Amino acid sequence: MEIKEYWDDFYKKNLAPQDESNFARETLAYIQKNQLNHLKLLDVACGNGRDTFYFSRNGIESTGIDISVQPNAEIPVFLRENILDFNYTNFQLIYLRFIVHALKERDMDILLDQIKQAKKTQYIFIETRSAKGISDKEKIETFFKSSVGEEHFRMLYSETYLSEKLRKYFKIERIEENRGFSIYKNEDPVCIRYTLRNN
Ligand SMILES: C[S@@+](CC[C@H](N)C(=O)[O-])C[C@H]1O[C@@H](n2cnc3c(N)ncnc32)[C@H](O)[C@@H]1O
Repeated sequence: MEIKEYWDDFYKKNLAPQDESNFARETLAYIQKNQLNHLKLLDVACGNGRDTFYFSRNGIESTGIDISVQPNAEIPVFLRENILDFNYTNFQLIYLRFIVHALKERDMDILLDQIKQAKKTQYIFIETRSAKGISDKEKIETFFKSSVGEEHFRMLYSETYLSEKLRKYFKIERIEENRGFSIYKNEDPVCIRYTLRNN
């Protein structure tokens, strides 16, 4: 199944959570504490836009971009575009929740290159699933059964491997790897959170 079809199907079935993620709450607190509220945020691969709406509701000028957006989420702050072919220039805060593990590694490298090229980027916030607890390898491509019953691709990295990659592009201000970050139904995967600064 193609990636877009998979996600169209997923959102049609209304399986995606509607409330903002725990990571969005944490990111908003960081933005407020560091007085970054005046900067423009891009929610990259925003899905149904739950986090984009949350940032907007809380006074952050926010745009969501996703190749597959729920029809009822089509308001001006949403762009139905491919994140691998996008100009990131207008945004200073780049928010990447659960997209790093949804991309093949070469596509992740393309995404990082594009964000880096957009010289105005100041902060990047990432939450992604870790390989920890699943494999001792530095990276592994997996196909988990998803909530829509499909075998669904995931690219998992060890914290060490991913940090080394990200460090080539950005300054790492914070890394945290843990369970309890993204509990959904019976799942509590190990996730890695980053705050990155553009040098
Ligand atoms: C796991 S969902 C994350 C959704 C949202 N960030 C959240 O945390 O609720 C991954 C999203 O990535 C989107 N996606 C995957 N590849 C993409 C691409 N090349 N361009 C734009 N969106 C993409 C999918 O459509 C899907 O909505």
